[in-house]
Amino acid sequence: MWMTATPEPAVELKGIVKRFPGVVANRDVCLKVQRGHVHAVVGENGAGKSTLMKILYGMQRPDEGEIRINGAPVTFRSPSDAIAAGIGMVHQHFMLADNFTVLENVILGSEPRQAGTVIDFSAARKRIREISDAYGLGVNPDSLVESLGVGDRQRVEILKVLYRGAKILILDEPTAVLVPQEVEELFASLRGLVREGHTVLFISHKLDEVLSVADEITVIRRGTTVETVNPGQTTARRLAELMVGSELPVPELRESTVTDVVALAVEGLTVRTPEGRPIVDDVSFEIRKGEVLGIAGVEGNGQAELVEAIMGIRPAAGTIRLSDTDITGWTTRRRRVSGVGHIPEDRHRHGLLLEAPLWENRILGHQTEKPNAKGPWIDRSGARKDTARIVDEYDVRTPGIDVHASALSGGNQQKLIVGREMSGDPVVLIASHPTRGVDVGAQAAIWDHLRAARARGLAVLLISADLDELIGMSDTLKVICGGRIVRAVDPHNVTPEELGSAMTGAGGEA
Ligand SMILES: Nc1ncnc2c1ncn2[C@@H]1O[C@H](COP(=O)(O)OP(=O)(O)OP(=O)(O)O)[C@@H](O)[C@H]1O
Ligand SMILES: [Mg+2]
Repeated sequence: MWMTATPEPAVELKGIVKRFPGVVANRDVCLKVQRGHVHAVVGENGAGKSTLMKILYGMQRPDEGEIRINGAPVTFRSPSDAIAAGIGMVHQHFMLADNFTVLENVILGSEPRQAGTVIDFSAARKRIREISDAYGLGVNPDSLVESLGVGDRQRVEILKVLYRGAKILILDEPTAVLVPQEVEELFASLRGLVREGHTVLFISHKLDEVLSVADEITVIRRGTTVETVNPGQTTARRLAELMVGSELPVPELRESTVTDVVALAVEGLTVRTPEGRPIVDDVSFEIRKGEVLGIAGVEGNGQAELVEAIMGIRPAAGTIRLSDTDITGWTTRRRRVSGVGHIPEDRHRHGLLLEAPLWENRILGHQTEKPNAKGPWIDRSGARKDTARIVDEYDVRTPGIDVHASALSGGNQQKLIVGREMSGDPVVLIASHPTRGVDVGAQAAIWDHLRAARARGLAVLLISADLDELIGMSDTLKVICGGRIVRAVDPHNVTPEELGSAMTGAGGEA
C-alpha cells in the first residue's frame, strides 16, 4: 500500500462558498488543520470566521465546497452529524440554561440510558468528574449554572463538548470574556487536550494570545483565506496588517481632558442579594466631565450589579447624582433620556432585538428622543437616516439597515450598539466591555470615538476585562473585589501584570 509521509489533516476545507442575501460570507475558503494542533483563525469583524465554523459544525450548509475529516469527505445535515463525526463547538455566545445544574446542562441531548428510559445520573456525574480532572477544568457537576462566573461557564461548555466525544473542538472567541488568569487556565487545558490527540480550532481577536497558544494561524480577509502562518515567524502587527490588507496607523498620544465639573456622583451604593448579602458594598466615586473612570476586577465581583444599579435596573441603597440632580429614584427610561448612555455587558440579552431590523434597533431604548421621535410619534425616516449614519461612522459591515440584527457578525452587532449609545451626546456613558468581540481595527476606531466624546466633556464609567483597554483609556483606575472598591492604581504607571495581581487580591489593599 502506498503511504503518504504526512498524516491526513484532521480537518480539510476546500473551496467553501457561503452566500447570504447581499453578502458572500465565505468565498473559496481553503483550510488544513493538522491533528493535535491548536489552529487559530483570525480576521476582521464580519470576515466570515463564525460562518466557516458553523459550516464545519453542520449548523449551516455551504453553497459550494468540500469538507474532509481525517481524509474522508463528509456532508453534515445538522450538528448531530458533525457531533457523530467527532466535532464539537463552543459558540461565541454561551448557550447554557441558567437555572439548571452543570450535570443537567451537560447531559442535555445526550442522556445516558439504563434500563430503557431511566437516566443514569451517577454514571454521568462520574464521567463529568473524570473529564474535568483529566483536563484541569475544575467543573463541579452539581453547581447551578446561574451561580457560575463566565470562566466556569466556559469550562462547562468545553466539558459538554468533550462529554459527547469530540476529538475536534471549535472555540469561537473563547477568551473574549476572560481575564488574563482565566485565559492562562484555559490555554493550559487546551494544551492538555492537544497532547492527548485532540485538535482545536480557535478564534480570537486578541492577537497576542493567538501567538502564544497556536501552532498555526490562518488569516481570513473578506470571506477568504489569505495566508496560514507560523506564530514563530510573525508578529501581532503583521497579523493585523494581513487581516485588513494594509498597514495600520500608529496610535496617537493621549492628553488629559478631565475638568472640575462632576458629571456622575455615586455615594454609598449597596446592592444586596435576596438573602441580604451585599454584592455591591458601599461604593462611592465621582466621575468628572471629560474623565474616564476605569473599574478593574475579576468578573463576578459586583461590576454587573453596580452597572445595573446605576442604570436603575436593580434596586440599590445609596444615592446617585447626575450633574446636580439626584436621580436615585428615577426609572431607567428617565435616566437614559436625561443623558445616561449604556453599553450593556450582554448584547443579546440587553442590547439588541435580534429579530428586528437595524433601524428599529436604533430606536430601542431611545423611542422618545430625536431623531427617532417627532413629538409623540416615532420618526421612521429620522431613525433610518441616523442608522445609516451610525453604520457609516462606526463601520458596521452590513448589506443595509433593513437586515435583522441577527444577520450581523458578533463584532458588527457590538459596533451598532456603541454607535447608538454614543448618539445624542450623552452626559455619562456606562460602558461594559465596549469593544468585546470587535477586531483590532474596529477597537481602535471605538477608542477614537470615545476619546473624541471625552474631549467634548463625556464622562465614562469603563468596565472591561481587557486590561490594555482599561490602562490605555482610563484617567482614573480603581479595582473592585467582593463588591468593594479596594484600591486605586495609577493607569499611567501600572502594567497589565500588576493590575492583574491587584485584581486577584495579591499585593495588599491600598
Ligand atoms: N444568518 C445570517 N444571515 C445573513 N447574513 C449573515 C448571517 N450570518 C452571517 N452573515 C454575514 O456573513 C458575514 C460573515 O459573518 P461572520 O459572523 O462569519 O463573521 P465573523 O468573522 O465571525 O465576525 P466577528 O469577528 O464579528 O464575529 C457578515 O457579513 C455577516 O453579516
Ligand atoms: Mg464571529
